[in-house]
Amino acid sequence: MSKTATLNFDGNQYELPVVEGSESEQAIDIAKLRGSSGLITIDPGFKNTGSTQSAITFLDGEKGILRYRGYPIEQLAEKSTFLEVAYLLIKGELPTAKELEEYKDSITHHTLVHEDMKQFAEAFPTKAHPMGVLSAMISAMSTFYPESYDPNRDTESVDKTIIRLIAKLPTLAAWAHKNSLGHPIMYPKNKLNYCENFLNMMFAMPTEDYEIDPVVVNALDKLLILHADHEQNCSASAVRLVGSSQSNLYSSISAGVSALWGPLHGGANQAVIEMLEKIKEDGGDVEKWVNKAKDKNDTFRLMGFGHRVYKNFDPRAKIIKKACDDILSKLGVNDPVLDIAKKLEETALKDEYFVARKLYPNVDFYSGIIYRALGIPTEMFTVMFAIGRLPGWIAQWKEMVENKEPIGRPRQVYVGSQERQYPG
Ligand code: SDX
Repeated sequence: MSKTATLNFDGNQYELPVVEGSESEQAIDIAKLRGSSGLITIDPGFKNTGSTQSAITFLDGEKGILRYRGYPIEQLAEKSTFLEVAYLLIKGELPTAKELEEYKDSITHHTLVHEDMKQFAEAFPTKAHPMGVLSAMISAMSTFYPESYDPNRDTESVDKTIIRLIAKLPTLAAWAHKNSLGHPIMYPKNKLNYCENFLNMMFAMPTEDYEIDPVVVNALDKLLILHADHEQNCSASAVRLVGSSQSNLYSSISAGVSALWGPLHGGANQAVIEMLEKIKEDGGDVEKWVNKAKDKNDTFRLMGFGHRVYKNFDPRAKIIKKACDDILSKLGVNDPVLDIAKKLEETALKDEYFVARKLYPNVDFYSGIIYRALGIPTEMFTVMFAIGRLPGWIAQWKEMVENKEPIGRPRQVYVGSQERQYPG
């Protein structure tokens, strides 16, 4: 017998169905609320509003649990690879060895970008932020594949678009980086795996090879796994909303990149390093900066801290923090901002303001320290987040399409002028 919730309003009683998920989460289904009572609900930022029922990723914010298609993030980060996780998120099951090999091979053979795209890349100013370049280039890429515009999205063309996006995003990202340096772009090499290829396109030059370090490659693969999906976050919701109008997958992903860019979301990993550098230059007085973060009259926030869902440790932050020590020691890197980050975390987690608000380090707090140790420039940190999050965005878009969800169009409560006559 499914549960219901009773709403008493204006002397009337309304029974509303309650849906229950596979992890016993419960939600009041308000689809028919306006029709029966004239009421809508309102929830700026959708802090307590579910937008969909999804089978992709499960988070438990209180317990700090994150699972992709039921598999705990700790096990995937330890035992899987990024392309295997991408397959899992998008197709719902882990691939067989043969399926994975075919998937990797298909991606390898789509890493080249149409030569005409170079004219767009070269048109950007040298100092263009790579997230602006990436969002524009992904949308521009759609113009080379008009068959992807099909609103009915036949399976074959969708699968092709998915492979093209996963294959070409690292190439576009590396192009943005090379353009920012005024360096010639490097082409993908089919003999390299996904992460090796990206690193080579980022750091090799026509004049000298890039020496591929397995420590760097494995660290990057793990970071991409940790960023691969996170249920209905801001950028995934942007992808779903744009896709719900039957806009094509390229334009939906371009919207996701734009949403991720914000410093309150994926842009936080760049903001964390800039914050840590500022604290270092200021003498490393973490108490002073923790107090600034608490001061309502001060706009400063502790970037990389707090989360809409996690009211306990972000499990990804725990894994990344441990990986920080491992990777920096393996690479022989001694980064003073890591010590500042650890001191900041220790100070904040003892402070009543953070404890009362359940503010813990999130995925962005330590990730930038590893990216920096891998030689990734700060402005590219959020691009790394986008490369990792791409399979998740695609999985969310695909689920929305396959479930034939309606176009997203929220209601509002109007608070403006009542009717008035135009003068004269
Ligand atoms: C990501 O949604 C996802 O899943 C996102 C993500 C993903 O994988 O897709 O996990 C990736 O975006 C991680 C978050 C990265 N952003 C940052 O690190 C930026 C700093 N953090 C915040 O701005 C904030 O914590 C948010 C945006 C992450 C969450 O904001 P909420 O849920 O809207 O919470 P809030 O702003 O209402 O804060 C509640 C209270 C407020 O104080 P009071 O009004 O109750 O007195 O906590 C305070 C806030 O002022 N607060 C902070 C703080 N974060 C929240 N105070 C100081 N420093 C902070 N970082």
